[in-house]
Amino acid sequence: MGSRRSFLRSWSSPLSLFVVVVALAASSADGFKAPRVPCYFIFGDSLYDSGNNNNLNTSVKVNYSPYGIDFPAGPTGRFSNGRTAADIIGETLGFKDFIPPFASNPDDRQILVGVNYASGSAGILVESGKQGGDNVDLNKQLRNHKVTVSRIVKKLGSKKAAFEHLGQCLYICNMGNNDYINNYILPQSTAIRSQYNPAQFAALLIARYSAQINVSPLYESLL
Ligand SMILES: *[C@@H]1O[C@H](CO)[C@@H](O)[C@H](O)[C@H]1NC(C)=O
Repeated sequence: MGSRRSFLRSWSSPLSLFVVVVALAASSADGFKAPRVPCYFIFGDSLYDSGNNNNLNTSVKVNYSPYGIDFPAGPTGRFSNGRTAADIIGETLGFKDFIPPFASNPDDRQILVGVNYASGSAGILVESGKQGGDNVDLNKQLRNHKVTVSRIVKKLGSKKAAFEHLGQCLYICNMGNNDYINNYILPQSTAIRSQYNPAQFAALLIARYSAQINVSPLYESLL
């Protein structure tokens, strides 16, 4: 009884009330806060993949334990014990849910918020990483994004509305690891090394990547 009374006394003190009110205000502001950008699209390799390789014919897949041991949903196809850097960026921006992988067939409501196209072993060059089996190389990821864009045009009712929506999104891309570790520097890659010295290979990657990430032709078609 004594402790209950002292609890009540401290509960009703002005300072405690102030603390409670501030805490409630902070938690409700947090609960309803919109993300810093309305939508977020992810391209990349295994560092960002969140399940796109799960149903591909490849040895480069990780949808089994102990991958995901620190992830709320367990193994998902993330090449990690927990969240990827792409997940953490999304959380930091205020997204409540993880951006779904393209391979999970996200619905119309989800694709307005974002899609993750990243695929373990994928590269800038189509042939990179293919010794492990299939992957979704960057060209294919961009074709998948075109599918998303057409769906968004349909959903929002006009190209103009889709253009305005997509113009507010954040796009990130992590690419290039596999063009080296699963292509250029592999012992068996003698043909490509004799065709390109390291500087020439870097120039090739930069030229291809610059063309790929220039998505303006895709978005100009929406104008
Ligand atoms: C999977 O890939 C292997 C070689 O990478 C191939 O031999 C096999 O036929 C493929 N399986 C299917 C179902 O496509």
